[in-house]
Amino acid sequence: MARTLVIANQKGGVGKSTSVLNLGVALARRGQRVLLIDLDPQAGLTAGLGLDPYTLRRTVYSLLSTPGTSLARVLCTIEDGLALVPANIDLAVADIRLSAAADPATRLRDVLDRSRIPFDVILIDTPPGLGVLTANGLVAADAVIVPVQCQYLAMRGVRGLLDSVERIGQSLNRDLVVGGLFGTLYRVESEHAREVMGELRDVFGPQVFESVIPYDEAAAEAPLAGQAVLDYAPDSPAALAYRALAEEIVP
Ligand SMILES: Nc1ncnc2c1ncn2[C@@H]1O[C@H](COP(=O)(O)OP(=O)(O)OP(=O)(O)O)[C@@H](O)[C@H]1O
Ligand SMILES: [Mg+2]
Repeated sequence: MARTLVIANQKGGVGKSTSVLNLGVALARRGQRVLLIDLDPQAGLTAGLGLDPYTLRRTVYSLLSTPGTSLARVLCTIEDGLALVPANIDLAVADIRLSAAADPATRLRDVLDRSRIPFDVILIDTPPGLGVLTANGLVAADAVIVPVQCQYLAMRGVRGLLDSVERIGQSLNRDLVVGGLFGTLYRVESEHAREVMGELRDVFGPQVFESVIPYDEAAAEAPLAGQAVLDYAPDSPAALAYRALAEEIVP
């Protein structure tokens, strides 16, 4: 059975989508059968893989809004061993449309439970915030992985997220665990960034992965080329860090 990981942090711009994309590519290159799911109406993951969200007919919204839609109908094959359930702006109405439903947060889990397509790892990208889309990701997953930007204020949001994880754990997904946290956008030369990483390790101990993703221009440029930084700049510090992190998350 697939291991399903959701990458979540209610703070925006901390590297969630970049991480899902690059971890997914790194794992696929190691021979894992990987499914990526984009739950963000901004569709950063979808666009980052070189797809044009505006031309997509079926997206993750079809899965969430129309129970019974099969995973196979919305899958896009990216490369050998790497598939994507894409998103587009249609998803922006999901909050309103789903809040009237009896089971708004369990839709994605139901789809994955029904699917017979074999995957080893499923990585779910979530939007900033803790709305119904993020809830769908948390309910569908076995573990939540939290990217934390190496800045002081970013630490604050982590508590709020872990509280939500606990709430969801008590109600909709008893099996959900915190799979780990990792630092992102780490500025090697910054004393402040080092302090934040130190504090993160003090507070969360062994839950913090060894690998830290450095701030790297190549990672910021790669999406413009519709590529993972692993392909855009395979020997860049960010690419090396993502390969090492993938190894830690799925040994
Ligand atoms: N290691 C890095 N070095 C430099 N820039 C990065 C790095 N990781 C991500 N970025 C850039 O930072 C921005 C935010 O990253 P990303 O979109 O992955 O964050 P996010 O958490 O998914 O954001 P949102 O909450 O808006 O979905 C993007 O422009 C991305 O290209
Ligand atoms: Mg994102």
